Amino acid sequence: MSLSVLPDADALARAAAEQFVELARASILARGRFMVALSGGGTPRRLFHCLAAAPFRDRVDWFRVQVFWGDERGVPPDHPDSNFHMAAAALLDRVPIQKRNVHRIAAERIDRPSAAHDYQLEIARAFEVDGEGRPPPFDLVLLGMGSDGHTASLFPGDPALREGRRWAVSVEAPQRPPPSRITLTAPILNRAREIRVLVAGADKAATLRAVLTGPHEPERTPIQLVRPEDGRMIWLADEAAASLLTPRAQVAAR
Ligand code: 6PG
Repeated sequence: MSLSVLPDADALARAAAEQFVELARASILARGRFMVALSGGGTPRRLFHCLAAAPFRDRVDWFRVQVFWGDERGVPPDHPDSNFHMAAAALLDRVPIQKRNVHRIAAERIDRPSAAHDYQLEIARAFEVDGEGRPPPFDLVLLGMGSDGHTASLFPGDPALREGRRWAVSVEAPQRPPPSRITLTAPILNRAREIRVLVAGADKAATLRAVLTGPHEPERTPIQLVRPEDGRMIWLADEAAASLLTPRAQVAAR
């Protein structure tokens, strides 16, 4: 686990874009494809805008990229709250990615538990693995962190935090419209080869300090569940989010 502190949200987006491009190149070289799970929220939007423009856009072999989501809200794909919609508008509609390589979560379905299971099977088909077996490793998982310590749609105290087998489950988010969601779970997130957590803004500072330097309490701060088994996890924070970390804590997290 390591931490990079960038001056502001734009620098953070550029640093994340550089890493995305580099990981895509290395994954395609090694395995012929780049399997990436995107996050929702405001912080990745800047990253997506960077990736959709020169010079980053032209450094990715989009034909070999497959995108998934870490979570999706229970709204149709053209709804402003949809994580798919945000990524499509900011990135996917602007790059030559193949439609069949865009694996959105159909969280608008009424029967969300079966939509979650179908998403597990869709991931398995894309990775060409057994859909009831061990989850496959994403080449990159992008995550954000809420000021309550949630990540993807893994919220404090939710039973989804204790999921040990399924790769995707339906959840009801506390006090957060839209409440109904589908999220990937710790078992698949922690198989990732690379995880980048993007954290920007002073409202995240106290939580970032608690998560990095406080006790391990994932029921309260679910992002502490994210600990890749064999992969690498790098936190990218802007100075505002890192402002409550002492220099010593910053060095320790590096
Ligand atoms: C979502 C997310 C969520 C997000 C965090 C941080 O769909 O809401 O995937 O986990 O990443 O809430 O969001 P911000 O970057 O907007 O603070």
